[in-house]
Amino acid sequence: MSTQRFQGKIAFVTGGNSGIGLAVATALVREGAKVVLSGRNEATVAAATKALGSSAQGVVADTGRIDGIERVVAAAREFGGGRLDVLFCNAGIGAFGPIATISEQKWDELMAVNLKGVFFTVQKALPLMARGGAIVLNASVAAGKGDPGGSMYAASKAAVRSLGRSLGAELVPAGIRVNVVSPGPVETPIFGKAGMNEQQVADLKVAWSERNPMKRFGTPEEIAATVLFLASDAASYITGVDLLVDGGRGSF
Ligand SMILES: NC(=O)c1ccc[n+]([C@@H]2O[C@H](COP(=O)([O-])OP(=O)(O)OC[C@H]3O[C@@H](n4cnc5c(N)ncnc54)[C@H](OP(=O)(O)O)[C@@H]3O)[C@@H](O)[C@H]2O)c1
Repeated sequence: MSTQRFQGKIAFVTGGNSGIGLAVATALVREGAKVVLSGRNEATVAAATKALGSSAQGVVADTGRIDGIERVVAAAREFGGGRLDVLFCNAGIGAFGPIATISEQKWDELMAVNLKGVFFTVQKALPLMARGGAIVLNASVAAGKGDPGGSMYAASKAAVRSLGRSLGAELVPAGIRVNVVSPGPVETPIFGKAGMNEQQVADLKVAWSERNPMKRFGTPEEIAATVLFLASDAASYITGVDLLVDGGRGSF
């Protein structure tokens, strides 16, 4: 049954041109929202915007940089008439490998998108958000696990979880809820973008499915359902939580 929980609402989804962000942008439009989505890839930003129709506006911007964030927030201000109800800070990249293989450049690149970008997107978008607004940050089950080769990525996501708690507390007086969603493994283009070839992605899928209690990857739509719940009025008494959507991987 389709609902219209976001009728008349304005939402901003970073990384809304691919994977989980695209599923969230699609679900928000389906439920009545107008959505500004951002991404780096011009072609996929254009394709996502076209597919979502007049309820969506795409902006090509690097949200690992302050000027990129300011540009996309300015577009969101214009598209939403100066108001924002829902912010999903989702843009992120993966990079994996033993500590000896991680360069300073790779560290700076990943932290710029996964951590700095989240922090400053919230900071720059906040003036648009009125009481009753909801922010959801995308972390990862990896934040709470100790996996060899995952140190840098997991550290970035643990910091995002921490932001959810601190900003959740800080924004209670403003009437804005801040929550975190922590997906388990989800089939999206992220692994290819992290430099894995098709065979490596296929092998990873088998290995990670095997150690997952539900023996499978999640879908972007399963993560989107949780993000929309956290952003909706049904979650009106929920702030500062980190909700695992991971087939049980983080819990047992
Ligand atoms: N897939 C998983 O297993 C999984 C699990 C837990 C958490 N997550 C998190 O979920 C989020 C979404 O990832 P996904 O799996 O859906 O992968 P994805 O399809 O690769 O999506 C990542 C999104 O972030 C955008 N992005 C990356 N760097 C950016 C930058 N500098 N500026 C602007 N946008 C940027 C990408 O845009 P372009 O395509 O234009 O580069 C893309 O839209 C990430 O934060 C990821 O860490 C994923």
